Amino acid sequence: MAYQGKPIHAEWSSSFAFILAATGSAVGLGNIWKFPYIAGENGGGAFVLVYLACIAVIGIPVMMAETMLGRRSRQSPINGLASLADQENLSRRWSGLGWLGVAAGFLILSFYSVVAGWAVAYVFKMAAGTFTGMEGPAVDAVFGAMLAQWHVVLGWHTLFMVLCFLVVARGIRSGIEQAVRVLMPLLFLLLLLLVAYAYHLGDFGRGLSFMFTADFSALSGEAMLVALGHAFFTLSLGMGAIMVYGSYLPRRASIAGTTFLIAGADTLVALLSGLAIFPIVFATGLEASAGPGLLFQTLPYVFGQMPAGAFFGTLFFLLVSFAALTSGLSLLEPAVAYLVENRDWSRRKATAVLTFSIWALGLCSVFSLNLLADFYPLGFIEPLEDKTLFDLFDGLSSNIMLPLGGLLIALFAGWRMHQASSRDELAMGRGYRVWRFIVRYVSPVLIALVLAYGLGLFQAIGLL
Ligand code: PHE
Repeated sequence: MAYQGKPIHAEWSSSFAFILAATGSAVGLGNIWKFPYIAGENGGGAFVLVYLACIAVIGIPVMMAETMLGRRSRQSPINGLASLADQENLSRRWSGLGWLGVAAGFLILSFYSVVAGWAVAYVFKMAAGTFTGMEGPAVDAVFGAMLAQWHVVLGWHTLFMVLCFLVVARGIRSGIEQAVRVLMPLLFLLLLLLVAYAYHLGDFGRGLSFMFTADFSALSGEAMLVALGHAFFTLSLGMGAIMVYGSYLPRRASIAGTTFLIAGADTLVALLSGLAIFPIVFATGLEASAGPGLLFQTLPYVFGQMPAGAFFGTLFFLLVSFAALTSGLSLLEPAVAYLVENRDWSRRKATAVLTFSIWALGLCSVFSLNLLADFYPLGFIEPLEDKTLFDLFDGLSSNIMLPLGGLLIALFAGWRMHQASSRDELAMGRGYRVWRFIVRYVSPVLIALVLAYGLGLFQAIGLL
């Protein structure tokens, strides 16, 4: 059966544009908000090492597989997997993997946008000097008060979704590509400035040794699995974002080469974020293990105590907002591409309908911070007894849907697709055999471990 959608004709103007866009997708709240706090919670150095290994062993090969599937199909993930399945004489049910990705994108963007909204709000709070000289408990109270007012959280969430809409509706070249061409260089510049600030005014030596002195006795089994799961989230793998961006990649570009650059840039940003954050946290006499509040509670307090803190704090939250925006775009794009292919809709209309739907789904996360803060929908299942809707969306998508998507991608590319097809599309000479070995044998096993962990199997059988 021939496939029904129209093919995507859009293409990045160069492979560099793809690198910028995919790096924009990868670099996000995962790098600047999640990475430093999970590294902090899990003791620093040893965790960082395991995370780096996960990026190399799972992240890079799976990212190559995902880009390869996108470019070979030149369609949105849902249609693309259906037509690849046709080409390879496989069941069209593989398009279900595309649907899984779209569903994951919906869920992730719905809460991602809420957190991104906080970051945007903090740009203004910082610029207004709200935290200058403020005591710790008062800083915490500012955050608490914001979350408690649903209309405030909703307002920032709405603003962030509108920004995503404005860019994605304009298309690949004049929308996403234009945005990342401006935002990504700015992002790197801001980050370097902040590292320089931390170097001059913070306890840089302690920051460095915290991140790079590996104390393996502090590393729990759980921490290793967290590192593995995070490698997925931070590289935007397993939900079709990289696949759809890959579908716009020019034929002549090297998939292996671009992937190394993207994964390298993402890792560099995570490490530099740590080097911007930990030294100033330590210099203020605080600890790194504050958890999710590290960014919105510890850090504003720290900036409030530092010289020129309001200025650099504003830059910091601007950096977080830019990073979140370029990731938000890629969370929206797989679904938009699908609707544009399958309906007679303009891109603008498709983007508007999807943005609105995700915005509406985001209300669950908005209200779970205030009106529904005591609502635990799955409270009858023991490990989920204190999880709000927000927590469940995050957990379901990051711990289950992304690894599952990544596992299926590895299986499709490594086991189901003909070797001749992947060899041809990757066109990478001798490295191909290494890639194929990893995608067939190494990544699936390791991903299955994360997945089992996400599903709580380990707790259930008492291993952790
Ligand atoms: N990689 C993004 C981050 O680190 C999150 C993301 C996940 C984006 C999945 C797109 C797809 O914040």
